[in-house]
Amino acid sequence: MANNITYKDFNDEKNYTAMASEVMAIRARGDVPLACIRTYGCQQNVADSEKIKGMLSDMGFDFTEKAEDADFILFNTCAVREHAEDRVFGNVGALKNIKRKHPSVLIGLCGCMMEQQHVTDRLYKSFPFVGLVFGTHSLHRFPELFYNAVTVGKRVYETGVDDKTVYEGIPTRRDGTFKGWLPIMYGCNNFCTYCIVPYTRGRERSRKFEDVVNEARDMIRAGYKDITLLGQNVNSYGKNFEEKVTFAQLLEEIDKIEGDYWIRFMTSHPKDCSKELIDVIANSKHISSHLHLPFQSGNDRVLKAMNRSYNREKYLDIVNYAKEKIPDLSLTSDIIVGFPGETYDEFLDTLSLVKEVGFSSLFTFIYSPREGTPAAKMDDPYSHEEKTKWFAELLKTQEEISAKHCAAMVDKVYKVLVDGKSDKDGILTARTSGNIIVEFPGDESLVGQFANVKITKARHWILNGELV
Ligand code: 5AD
Ligand code: SF4
Repeated sequence: MANNITYKDFNDEKNYTAMASEVMAIRARGDVPLACIRTYGCQQNVADSEKIKGMLSDMGFDFTEKAEDADFILFNTCAVREHAEDRVFGNVGALKNIKRKHPSVLIGLCGCMMEQQHVTDRLYKSFPFVGLVFGTHSLHRFPELFYNAVTVGKRVYETGVDDKTVYEGIPTRRDGTFKGWLPIMYGCNNFCTYCIVPYTRGRERSRKFEDVVNEARDMIRAGYKDITLLGQNVNSYGKNFEEKVTFAQLLEEIDKIEGDYWIRFMTSHPKDCSKELIDVIANSKHISSHLHLPFQSGNDRVLKAMNRSYNREKYLDIVNYAKEKIPDLSLTSDIIVGFPGETYDEFLDTLSLVKEVGFSSLFTFIYSPREGTPAAKMDDPYSHEEKTKWFAELLKTQEEISAKHCAAMVDKVYKVLVDGKSDKDGILTARTSGNIIVEFPGDESLVGQFANVKITKARHWILNGELV
């Protein structure tokens, strides 16, 4: 398997980066070329955007939040739910005026939506001012595609070319200085019947063990204190290697790195979340006591129709084991309400699982049909209004649970990482290892540092505290 090709192999030979940099030095409206990158969707997209920013930095670009000021505007899109797609189409439409006013601006689109043929067909027909389109598999070729788009006078479309390879060495310009994302694998093999991701991000492939450990070490040395390992299903890390390694072994190795830092990871799939993994977390020094373990539905028939490959009992088994082994464990989950054919009684099974487990917070979604997935062809007899009612019931239930969860933390002392200043004067915001938000009075110099805070009050899902 070709698993060790570097980005440099693609871009050094012709040095598209240097050529693009020369072109942009002339084409830029200001002293330096400016790029405006908007990212939609999940953390994997955020991590991809950080790579695009790294490549653009090497071309001499600076960055702006204002699309009107930019020489290059790029939307990194998400296809997981219809709402995200609609927003992208709306926002791209609004860029037409900028292009009219500044014809030299290059407008580009990338990310998951660009790996769907019906989307790129629509873009090609209806949005002729979009000059560059590339999918998730073409990230490593960005300098070449960008160079072509600014020199060839034709629209550049590069999608649907999954060569099943991991490209190392793409420069990264991280948004944060103490919190950072670290992709460990790409793609997904699970084909949950509602989900578009396996079609837009291709088959699972893992980065090499040493590459991940070395990058984690570099980040820790550079001062990162909260690192999230990313993958659609981190529990199947290493399954494509000839010599098997497990995600638990990867965590164990990273945990050996000296320093004061936390490691998080997402997303775990319950079907292969092993007890070995829970033991590693329980015995580790740096792995946060937070487990994001999406169960999607609490009903076995629905889980089967979703192709999730576990049932309620197996989910509870692993969750109860984790609760027993990891003190102060914070559990979170993703849930879909209104999967095609889900009845109210089946939804009640989701609600009862939510109550039984006691999650600290939830990411909840109403089912959104995605063209090309099996679920989109299933009978969907319940109305959106009905599903919205169930959804509200779920939110209300979880609100009460989150509040109880937070109330139980009052009077205890927690180590927190200070995120930044809140909008209230002199108040800092921070997160516990379990990812719960804490606000407390403190000096700005603490931002980016760990501190010990005693919780004084719980306000729903936010805590108040004081430094100890
Ligand atoms: N409709 C609603 N929610 C979805 N998710 C994925 N696909 C869909 C869909 N078609 C949710 C799942 C997943 C999270 C990232 O997004 O809960 O875990
Ligand atoms: Fe989608 Fe399922 Fe893969 Fe998650 S595990 S990305 S929900 S197919």
